[in-house]
Amino acid sequence: MSSTRGKVIKCKAAIAWEAGKPLSLEEVEVSPPKEHEIRVKIIATGVCRTDAHGMSPRFKEGLFPVILGHEGAGIVESIGPGVTRFKSGDKVIPLYLPQCGQCKFCLSPKTNLCERISKAKTPISDQHLMLDGTSRFTCKGQKIYHFMGTSTFSEYTVVAESSLAKIDAAAPLDKVCLIGCGFSTGYGAAINTAKVEPGFTCAVFGLGGVGLSAVMGCKVAGASRIFGIDINKNKFALAKELGATDCLHPQEFKKPIQKVIAEMTSGGVDCSIECSGNIAIMNAALSCTTVGWGTCVIVGVAIGEEGFIVSPMELIMGRTIKATFFGGWKAIESVPKLVLDYMAGKFNLDALVSYTLPFEKINEAFDLMREGKSNRTVLVY
Ligand code: APR
Ligand code: ZN
Repeated sequence: MSSTRGKVIKCKAAIAWEAGKPLSLEEVEVSPPKEHEIRVKIIATGVCRTDAHGMSPRFKEGLFPVILGHEGAGIVESIGPGVTRFKSGDKVIPLYLPQCGQCKFCLSPKTNLCERISKAKTPISDQHLMLDGTSRFTCKGQKIYHFMGTSTFSEYTVVAESSLAKIDAAAPLDKVCLIGCGFSTGYGAAINTAKVEPGFTCAVFGLGGVGLSAVMGCKVAGASRIFGIDINKNKFALAKELGATDCLHPQEFKKPIQKVIAEMTSGGVDCSIECSGNIAIMNAALSCTTVGWGTCVIVGVAIGEEGFIVSPMELIMGRTIKATFFGGWKAIESVPKLVLDYMAGKFNLDALVSYTLPFEKINEAFDLMREGKSNRTVLVY
């Protein structure tokens, strides 16, 4: 039994005090878990574009001060009353997409969206507090908000029982943390949402951590040709290593990229997956799919109010446009299986980790992402 059980833990965390400012390293107090909650010692956390959105001045639903972070892995420190699925010492991955198991969404095989996030305006503006409406974090006497129900930028965090997956005891936490967000999102977009079939031609727009995972998903599903499209050519070598057959830089062609792809595939790809978060290219992603059955999957999260215009004629001609959250995986049941698949060598997470840095270098990790120099940086405590 852990000696910290039932007590407030003081530990390091990165706090966003206000929008648009670097994170500041602080000592925070983390309260013990209440009913159906678990306190987790985070061992490793990825840094994702969505964390940058969470502190962006353009993200109007942001609440401050907040502890960001949603792509972590750790070890259970202690459990609150009523928790039966976990015990201290278990290896776990916090889930920003809960799976309560009881709501009409969890009971349906049609969706992975649990009712617990369905009332929010956007999935990333929800879960700023625990289910009882209070926070478990304080710093300098101030209440600190949670982020996406996970807050992995704190050495210790508290999560709801419905927001935690127990994983294999031998899993390397500094790699499988990526299953908490970026990897599962891109990989699942190909497998669950686009439903790539053997022989499919696919186009993946944006080759960051999410897009590269989509490339891996297309490959595992048996795609015969995988186009990778990015405005940063440094992304191409790894994309090819992971399964892309053709890498294209849109600005190197006179014609729009959707025309180029359509010509190279006698009419268009079976499916496209948009992983850049850039609204301006969502139309290209839809238009490069084939008449008759082409499917375009939107993965990139664009913050702000802007939308994009879809021509009804493109849809009448048999195209489908879909989107995905967390790659369509029902979180609690799928994450442990994805961890086992990784450990069995089904896909390569290690290749996604551009840098592994000490937690204290968190602002450098954001700089590396913003400068396009990393696919993922993993921070270790
Ligand atoms: N055309 C092609 N590629 C583009 C374009 C564009 N117009 N604009 C940006 N990109 C590329 C970038 O060069 C980068 O390689 O898209 C990639 C995006 O990668 P990251 O910024 O590393 O983002 P990632 O973590 O992969 O997430 C992608 O999914 O979860 C969401 O919020 C997340 O919107 C983000 C998206
Ligand atoms: Zn994420």
